[in-house]
Amino acid sequence: FRTLNDLSPAGKRILLRADLNVPVREGRITDTTRIDRVLPTVEELVEKGGRVIVLSHFDRPKGRVVAEMSLAPIAAAMAEKTRHTVRFVSDCIGPEVEHAIAAMKDGDILILENTRFHAGEEKNDPEFVASLAKSGEIYVNDAFSAAHRAHASTEGLARHLPAFAGRLMEAELNALSAALEKPDHPVGALIGGAKISTKLDLIGNVVNKVDILFIGGAMANTFLAAEGVPVGKSLQEAEMHETAREIVARAQQAGCKIILPVDAVIAREFREGAPSEICPIDAVPADAMILDAGPRTVALINEQLAGLKTLVWNGPLGAFEIKPFDAATVAVAREAARLTKEGKLKTIAGGGDTVSALRHAGVADQMSYVSTAGGAFMEWLEGKLLPGIAVLTDAAQHVVPL
Ligand code: 3PG
Repeated sequence: FRTLNDLSPAGKRILLRADLNVPVREGRITDTTRIDRVLPTVEELVEKGGRVIVLSHFDRPKGRVVAEMSLAPIAAAMAEKTRHTVRFVSDCIGPEVEHAIAAMKDGDILILENTRFHAGEEKNDPEFVASLAKSGEIYVNDAFSAAHRAHASTEGLARHLPAFAGRLMEAELNALSAALEKPDHPVGALIGGAKISTKLDLIGNVVNKVDILFIGGAMANTFLAAEGVPVGKSLQEAEMHETAREIVARAQQAGCKIILPVDAVIAREFREGAPSEICPIDAVPADAMILDAGPRTVALINEQLAGLKTLVWNGPLGAFEIKPFDAATVAVAREAARLTKEGKLKTIAGGGDTVSALRHAGVADQMSYVSTAGGAFMEWLEGKLLPGIAVLTDAAQHVVPL
């Protein structure tokens, strides 16, 4: 695919697909990472004299105008972070947009309203794509985290306009390819979290690519129970036992070593400060639940990390939001950060929970790469071709360079 290196933005109207779908609680942005990470692309384009028109979705308004899902406050937050002029228009197509674009000068930034206020966005409706395409001469996609959606602004536009990957998209793709496509071996994957059935697909793909797979979180319970280890009242999916056994068999064939917890932190209640104890994994009482990996598991994982060159991390090892069940995640995150800082390990992390867990451990900025993506990172780990990326590759082949 082509990048900003292949583009002369001066004097051009550039439709830039960003992912400004930032977390908001009670009307306040709680994390500006996605804004911060797209800004270098915006600034590079305007500093080279481009006229940048930013498109993004926010939340899931399902084709209707929902006031609380306006991008206006997010546009304001973005304006505060740049010294360039930023304007906002309360639609993404139509006469108001046309007027604002006609008034743009080189180096201006215009942010358009939530693309998902129009039903045509998620339907990738050709008429809606054409209306969006009218606003620009060039399309830059910098929304890796929305690349798993074949929507008008993530996929359709790349078929209508000369399409390029932005700097963030480029960084995400380079990091992901360094993690699974062309990694330095040995490679380990640490997959945890509670979404058991959704991640079994991901694990099924990853076992073919990595040398060691650490399974943590509630998902590990399913693997343990499938092997006949009693897990008491722990969260697990009985209907996935067969699949879990198949994955273990496939991993063995592929030469991937699976590491499951050898001990656990258990409790009778799931609440902050609940009385907890540590027990060997084969001694979980019938009335207890596993809420974190135990210290022997942490030592085992950390010992294995020392022998790795690359680590892909998705999902916490325990119920890290509630103390003391954050201990294993924090300890392993800090060890991965230490090895990464010493240049011994390349750690690539992604997924919503993962980033919060690494932040909680105070090491989110010490990884080699932290993806801005949740669902897109997961689908990529599942080995799926993301439509927003596939089309950029096609565009690179079919459109004559400017
Ligand atoms: C995300 O937050 O993962 C992306 O912005 C995509 O959002 P969606 O799941 O609503 O399509």
